[in-house]
Amino acid sequence: MSTDTTTPPLQAVVLAAGQGKRMNSRLPKVLHQLAGRPMLHHVLQALQALKPNPLVVVYGHGGQALPQAFAEAPVTWALQQEQRGTGHALLQALPHLQPEGTVLVLYGDVPLLQSTTLRQMLSLCQGQHLVLLTQQLEEPTGYGRILRTAQGTVCGIREEKDATAQERAITEINTGIMALPARHLAGWLQALNCANAQQEYYLTDVVSQAVAQGVQVLTVTPEFTWEAMGVNNRAHLAQLERIYQQRQAHQLLEAGVALADPARLDVRGTLHCAQDVHIDVGCVFEGQVTLEEGVQVGAYCVLRDCRVAAHTVLQPYCHLDGVQIGPANRLGPYARLRPGCVTGSGVHVGNFVEVKNTTLGDHTKANHLTYLGDATVGCEVNIGAGTITCNYDGVNKHHTTIGDQVFIGSDTQLVAPVTVEQGATIGAGSTIVSRAPAHQLTVSRAKQVTIPRWQRPTRKKP
Ligand code: UD1
Ligand code: CA
Repeated sequence: MSTDTTTPPLQAVVLAAGQGKRMNSRLPKVLHQLAGRPMLHHVLQALQALKPNPLVVVYGHGGQALPQAFAEAPVTWALQQEQRGTGHALLQALPHLQPEGTVLVLYGDVPLLQSTTLRQMLSLCQGQHLVLLTQQLEEPTGYGRILRTAQGTVCGIREEKDATAQERAITEINTGIMALPARHLAGWLQALNCANAQQEYYLTDVVSQAVAQGVQVLTVTPEFTWEAMGVNNRAHLAQLERIYQQRQAHQLLEAGVALADPARLDVRGTLHCAQDVHIDVGCVFEGQVTLEEGVQVGAYCVLRDCRVAAHTVLQPYCHLDGVQIGPANRLGPYARLRPGCVTGSGVHVGNFVEVKNTTLGDHTKANHLTYLGDATVGCEVNIGAGTITCNYDGVNKHHTTIGDQVFIGSDTQLVAPVTVEQGATIGAGSTIVSRAPAHQLTVSRAKQVTIPRWQRPTRKKP
């Protein structure tokens, strides 16, 4: 389609005032999440690709929750106090619209609509015609049906509750998405009435008005059925979530990523993968995640906002959040890396090791049962099992500095602020409270004693 300057101006309205009773939730329906973002976010994203001005969202049920959740979005909010139907909802947006160009109407609970489908509707509409997004459904129950003349032109939409048995047999349904000529909108909306089964102002009644005024009514069918699928309950939402995830999985496969099972992957954000990345089952990716070439992600890892350099292996059940992992690391199983961690190359972080706001130099190892927080650890350091940085005094956090080639014996407590200098060795079981000098053994440990002739207590006879 042409995007030249002769294209009439585009205005958009998203209807999102409905309660969504069948979600059985306190949260307004369009705030329920699909792939980690509110449904409404998906709709706004598809629309923003078309740069409408204005972009009006009609809200109502749930009060200020919507405007608050989207405080940053370039959206004009129109309040619909009482939900009196889709026509009444669009009427609330009217004061924000100009009688010029095209008005696109979307639903906030139809989250997977593609921009390409919207573009197709706009190129047909041209600010002149009424364009409906319709589709054939084997099971049309619940939807408005498209009425056509013997010649096949659209002459109306009948809501299910107002339909005769014959009309209910029609399988072409109204998805609710439409593109309208802005200059007719005010007249059409003001002429709506609520003389129908639901006593609502039906937006769908603009169709018969258009026909009466000689405005052409055209239809577009989405490429995929799921694009126009709406969410009325949690089962619908779960179904659309699967469709969304399947599409992402197939895009990754095409890009050269090996997925153990495309049906067991969840991307709730953006996952960038270089070639030959391998992802095992059950992994969740949130925010912005980048996996460089040859990275292997074991089963049931959760990665959020992180970057993993080439050929690093994540064994099962790792949790990474806000970290930068160097190349050829070996993490897990059961490793937890929290925000602010940066690792060099060839680093090992083993099972039940938690690392927070810490830098680990090249070839450093912390293989078992350790907590490292607010620390700078050099290269080729060996951190023994059970070592912890005591970084928090109950009020403030303090830093631990560990030089290159340090060896920390098992079960050591490093009471921060403290420095262990290059090449130092710390004896197992030490509590280090002050500087441990370079290249020397530092140990703080109660002297071992054996009590002669000591006997175990015996059970007293009753
Ligand atoms: C509507 C259509 C129906 C279509 C169906 C597709 C009408 C009269 N009917 O029916 O032809 O097949 O969608 O799903 O338009 N909304 C408001 N304020 C209101 C009422 C609704 O903002 O007062 C919003 C809802 O939040 C939702 C959308 O409009 O996003 C559709 O509302 P819904 O109640 O689901 O419409 P249906 O009656 O199912
Ligand atoms: Ca609906």
